[in-house]
Amino acid sequence: MKASSKHLPIAEFEPPKPFKWNQYLINGTIETWEGDFEEVYSPMGKVSKEGSTERIYLGASPTLDEAAGLKALQAAKSAYNNGRGYWPTAGASARIAAMEKFVALMKDKREEVSTLLMWEIAKNKSAAYKEFDRTVDYIYDTIEEYKELQRRGSHVASKDGVISQIRRGPLGVVLCLGPYNYPLNETFCLLIPSLIMGNTIVFKPAKYGVLLLTPLIEAFKEAFPPGAVNIVFGRGRTLAGPIMKTGDVDVLALIGNSKSSNALVAQHPKPNRLRQVLGLEAKNPAIVFDDANVDKAVKECVNGALSYNGQRCTALKLIFVHKSVSEEFRTKFTKAVDALALDHPSTDSMLTPLPERNKVEQMEAYVDDAVAKGASVINQNAGRISDTAFFPAVLYPVTNQMAIFHEEQFGPVVPIVEYEDLEEVMTSIAASDCGQQCSLFSDNELTIAYAVDNMVNQVCRVNINASCQRGPDYLPFTGRKDSAVATLSVHDALRSFSIRTLVATGADQKELVGNVISGGQSTWMTTDYLL
Ligand code: G3H
Repeated sequence: MKASSKHLPIAEFEPPKPFKWNQYLINGTIETWEGDFEEVYSPMGKVSKEGSTERIYLGASPTLDEAAGLKALQAAKSAYNNGRGYWPTAGASARIAAMEKFVALMKDKREEVSTLLMWEIAKNKSAAYKEFDRTVDYIYDTIEEYKELQRRGSHVASKDGVISQIRRGPLGVVLCLGPYNYPLNETFCLLIPSLIMGNTIVFKPAKYGVLLLTPLIEAFKEAFPPGAVNIVFGRGRTLAGPIMKTGDVDVLALIGNSKSSNALVAQHPKPNRLRQVLGLEAKNPAIVFDDANVDKAVKECVNGALSYNGQRCTALKLIFVHKSVSEEFRTKFTKAVDALALDHPSTDSMLTPLPERNKVEQMEAYVDDAVAKGASVINQNAGRISDTAFFPAVLYPVTNQMAIFHEEQFGPVVPIVEYEDLEEVMTSIAASDCGQQCSLFSDNELTIAYAVDNMVNQVCRVNINASCQRGPDYLPFTGRKDSAVATLSVHDALRSFSIRTLVATGADQKELVGNVISGGQSTWMTTDYLL
């Protein structure tokens, strides 16, 4: 496609001082890496007249080798000790105390982490701070939910001649792999619940958004017992593959795509023993019906498709618009898109440069493919600004012959499909490999009732006159088909990372059970009620 004629300058801001990070955490010890490093560059930088970007150097992160990865696994395995280690058998109060210590230490790093979120992955200022604050809230909410779980587990039942106590127990060693777009929040939404449930962890950050996690390593070391959390840096192929091959991973916790998770699962020698907690690709559709409030639909679709440049799994990635409102929608939508600012994240602009290598080329390829098959770019400012900046392209009319109709763009290209026959829309959504969320736009209760009933078995969240999103975090976040395995929310994540375990005996053992509980020797068989 043609480059945009409109040059949107990237304002100059003072970058953080570059640093070479050479530490990693294994078995409660911060180790120093002396092998290879990966240089980390910001997607922001000086843009030449020709549009090439001289990226700002932020520092370097270690690329650990296989042996270091396996050492981290061994530490997690020893700390778990087949469920008999300190952390998996620790009482609830000890786990809560560790988590509270961690979050207190973490809060001191707000400025550092949020600043790196801006510079490393170009998350705009308010979203960067929000990601940090939301994660802190998530930890506190998890502690409260965990207490509630413990309170329920403190109940001893006696029914049909059986005395029983039921709690949720840990699963084992968790390999935790987070995404680059929410490197703090989504990673911690896996790591924190799995940890508090008594699992032990090997955590490797994503390819981008690595340095921003380094200010927290000391807090992990200080707060948790040796081996409970092990943090390694480097390539997935070098670290995660060999770790999976050992068969010592009990849970794969990954936010990314099914290609990566399938490749990892395939390497596990006993996949039946492997629990998967996965947030994967999505292709969330919006349907703008003929009786929609078009202004409302435009506002929600712009935000839904383009906040953080569309680099959200919950982004709206395909917009179906009824023919009768199509022209009005397109006119207002393209005007709203062209009015967006693309700038340095410190300015809080909605659009920012793209951290992934070759992302601009990928966006151009989607556009070129659609244009070759009959679509047009219908907004004025669309296109490449620099090597790392791409102003959103709105494509119309998109058909199912085009790659953008089926594939997750995870970036600033918005495909609009015009429809007359709703059945065709419903059929294509049902045929999609993804099934995370959808958005329905209509003011008519009959339309909404019909559409909701048709969509609830295709996706896991139907949004009415609102864009798709994950939050608030008490709501279940999951997906059908290739979009997810297991459910996350403050409550559900504790369930996903644990298994129900019970102790049972006959009614004639009442005295013994009573003595065990009142003796206070067992951390499991206790009726202590955590406040
Ligand atoms: O990348 C996927 C995130 O879970 C989306 O979360 O809807 O809060 O942006 P969000």
